[in-house]
Amino acid sequence: MNAEYAIQVRNLTVSYGPKPALLDVSFMIQKGELVGIIGPNGAGKSTLMKAMLGFVRRDIGDVYVFGKPVEQTRGAIAYVPQRGTVDWDYPVTVEDVAMMGRYGHLKWWRNPSKADREIVDSALEMVRMSDFKKRQIGQLSGGQQQRVFMARALAQGAQILLLDEPFAGVDAATESAILDVLAEAKKAGITLVVVHHDLATASEYFDKLLLVKQRLYAAGPPSLVFRQELLSEVYEGKLKVFTDLLKG
Ligand SMILES: Nc1ncnc2c1ncn2[C@@H]1O[C@H](COP(=O)(O)OP(=O)(O)OP(=O)(O)O)[C@@H](O)[C@H]1O
Ligand SMILES: [Mg+2]
Repeated sequence: MNAEYAIQVRNLTVSYGPKPALLDVSFMIQKGELVGIIGPNGAGKSTLMKAMLGFVRRDIGDVYVFGKPVEQTRGAIAYVPQRGTVDWDYPVTVEDVAMMGRYGHLKWWRNPSKADREIVDSALEMVRMSDFKKRQIGQLSGGQQQRVFMARALAQGAQILLLDEPFAGVDAATESAILDVLAEAKKAGITLVVVHHDLATASEYFDKLLLVKQRLYAAGPPSLVFRQELLSEVYEGKLKVFTDLLKG
């Protein structure tokens, strides 16, 4: 497989029950691309992300990361899951959580080095959470927690970053902090794949979009994916909103 691509997915089918959540999905993501995954609720977006991490069992299909089977490339990808999946009632600080990104690099017999601390500091800086370093993670808003998880992912030093709905339910300040992080990471050559719910901003935020509803309906630049017949097929019933969008 071609190592020029950050991610290659070929003929991927994933089922939890009798009906596949993803059916025969194939696409490639180039190094350094900023890609959005869009599609309605239950379309299989999170499942696709988990498949790219090798977290779900595949019925059929292959996933390659930098040209190697995903199972051999653990650690190359950092992941920020969809929110609401973790209850943070632990006595850990913002700094501790970001440091978890370094655990894969730490030797078990020693504490974080000066270099580890610097990496964590700059990751927290990047997501604009430096002022909250000593705060317990449970005492932050959802949007702030989200930024801390992004800092942890950045501290991991991975070349690919997968984010599952980072913009869902955040305020304007967090939205702009996240956008800055995406821009900075892209500048650093990191490949970014982001599940995104808001069609109104999708074409502005991403270089390329994957439109998913069990199957991959379209992949390419927003201008190619935002076609009325495609969107109306995938988002049945909500067509009016998108007609307005396409006009706007
Ligand atoms: N662990 C699981 N066990 C059984 N079914 C699952 C599991 N995870 C997801 N599903 C089902 O697979 C389908 C795809 O789910 P997935 O979470 O990937 O969708 P999604 O596009 O991320 O949705 P949302 O926009 O609501 O986050 C849904 O029908 C869902 O109910
Ligand atoms: Mg999801």
